[in-house]
Amino acid sequence: MATLEIRALSVGYGPVRALRDISVDVPDGGITAVLGGNGAGKTTLLRAVSRTLGFHRGTGTGSIRFDGRPLEGLRPAQVVAAGVVQVPEGRQVFARMTVADNLRAGALGARGGRKETGAALARVHELFPVLADRAHQRAGLLSGGEQQMLAMGRALMAGPRLLLLDEPSLGLAPLMAARIAETVQEINAGGTSVMLVEQNAAIALRLASTAYVLDVGEVALSGPADELATSDEVRRRYLGVVDEDAAADADPAARARRTLSRWSA
Ligand SMILES: Nc1ncnc2c1ncn2[C@@H]1O[C@H](COP(=O)(O)OP(=O)(O)OP(=O)(O)O)[C@@H](O)[C@H]1O
Ligand SMILES: [Mg+2]
Repeated sequence: MATLEIRALSVGYGPVRALRDISVDVPDGGITAVLGGNGAGKTTLLRAVSRTLGFHRGTGTGSIRFDGRPLEGLRPAQVVAAGVVQVPEGRQVFARMTVADNLRAGALGARGGRKETGAALARVHELFPVLADRAHQRAGLLSGGEQQMLAMGRALMAGPRLLLLDEPSLGLAPLMAARIAETVQEINAGGTSVMLVEQNAAIALRLASTAYVLDVGEVALSGPADELATSDEVRRRYLGVVDEDAAADADPAARARRTLSRWSA
């Protein structure tokens, strides 16, 4: 069963068409990956779900249902209260607030009471022990990877049933990216469905059961993640598996080496 059903979604920012007639299903309990290059419309898709397009002067048409209930017409806070919580791109934390206060802020829109908030905090500390160690430090002092953990932890404080993650591994060293990926899996194993936007197709396809590839605002490919991981197009475009001539054409240094080797031949 799909917990999130997106049908015929089109989004524009003024004259810019960012998404064209997209349909996406996020199955209950799974991890669904959304891949695509810069400007493909991945963030726009998450904004449409979290009803935050308005903050960016975007407008959309189409239908988005969560557990059969239309999200259209809801305010962003009501979407959070319904159990859909987004972690925006770029590790946004309140830099001058402490780690503990950042987490507390995440619980503000939550449905539960004090008991649920306490349980959510315990869970966040279990997933990210560093956030307990650094509870009283300013969030701005954390490393990039720790800030990503805090951004995710804050979202978890709202007790999401569906977590929307926007490129959590972007700009992180491989080891940290791998830890974040592991945690995404743990969060999912705890019963939270995940919609994972990633440019890192290798990570995303390993974690996800289903994946969609966006290309300039349209769904170019979709299917089981393991099938997409072996598709030639995905391998060539998103997994960095390239034939050598094409690579040489794209890489100026390789092009120069080839030219030099011709001259010296
Ligand atoms: N606030 C905005 N105003 C105008 N155009 C926007 C705005 N936000 C995004 N766009 C445009 O919409 C299209 C999709 O952008 P979006 O940010 O959704 O892509 P993305 O797949 O998330 O890219 P990236 O991987 O770089 O984050 C792009 O052409 C982008 O320039
Ligand atoms: Mg984006």
